[in-house]
Amino acid sequence: SWTMKSFARETIEQIREKVGDKKVILGLSGGVDSSVTALLIHQAIGKHLTCIFVDNGLLRKDEAAQLKLKLKSHLNINIRFVNAAAQFIKALSGVSDPERKRKIIGKIFMDVFEAEAKKIKDADFLAQGTLYPDVIESRSAFGGPTAVIKSHHNVGGLPKKMKLKLVEPLQYLFKDEVRKLGKTLGLDEDLVWRQPFPGPGLAIRVIGEVTKKRLDVLREVDAVLQEEIRAGGYYRKLWQSFAVLLPIKSVGIMGDGRTYENIVAIRAVTSKDAMTADWARLPHKLLGKISNRIINEVRGVNRVVYDISSKPPSTIEWE
Ligand code: XMP
Repeated sequence: SWTMKSFARETIEQIREKVGDKKVILGLSGGVDSSVTALLIHQAIGKHLTCIFVDNGLLRKDEAAQLKLKLKSHLNINIRFVNAAAQFIKALSGVSDPERKRKIIGKIFMDVFEAEAKKIKDADFLAQGTLYPDVIESRSAFGGPTAVIKSHHNVGGLPKKMKLKLVEPLQYLFKDEVRKLGKTLGLDEDLVWRQPFPGPGLAIRVIGEVTKKRLDVLREVDAVLQEEIRAGGYYRKLWQSFAVLLPIKSVGIMGDGRTYENIVAIRAVTSKDAMTADWARLPHKLLGKISNRIINEVRGVNRVVYDISSKPPSTIEWE
């Protein structure tokens, strides 16, 4: 639209003025916010931008590989990929408390990011895809009870330690505006419409201890869910849709045998900005198909439940 075009033009100009001939570093997650931020800054300063993508081993199935292809071919941008999966999984071993998980993940991310960033000479700026609601949630006790309860949100952390100046070109935008801006800038459709995904990734969706094995089970379940949500035409209509692996087992029956296996919960919500959310009234037929496929196709899961709680008082994530 006209407004987005002029917003983009003005923002790119502002970035140029602010940054001058210095270099900018950006943590790229593959989400729409960081991708749009990357595009804006790239259009402003080209090769003076370097993006760092950290694979923490907590991503969805095939996600790191797919993102690598998409981001590389699509955005003609300097990107450094760092595979730190082993480091993250090791540090999470034996940890069940959600806040400890977040702190550990945040710390390792920072270490890995910093080590990579240090290799970039003359970097004076750190770009972040912070949105307006992120700013609100992390600064206001009222608007964001989650900010108090959940420590590792997108905002803060890095710059203090690294002494970099911040560039946050999306800080006055809401998610739907960021998507429009992404479209205006010619961002790949798949990236424009990506549902939000939390920094700590699947670690906060494996309830209890996070192991490689449990992450793999959840990844398979989640892949089936995503496939059905997309096939049903719901991916773009939902704010988020995901599976959660529970730390309890349930009895089931398969053939003439009794099983004692994992339970997964399916969470699908609508929302404008994650401050409030409603559970999605997905058709029973779709839910039935999702459940059947998961139980038949994923070993180690014998029960699927659907989360019918809204935010508030529940949160979107389970941890
Ligand atoms: P909640 O669960 O608080 O989530 O209703 C609100 C939105 O934030 C995401 N979320 C996180 N994002 N780090 C992130 O980067 C986190 O620790 C985190 N916890 C929740 C969640 O997916 C939803 O979009």
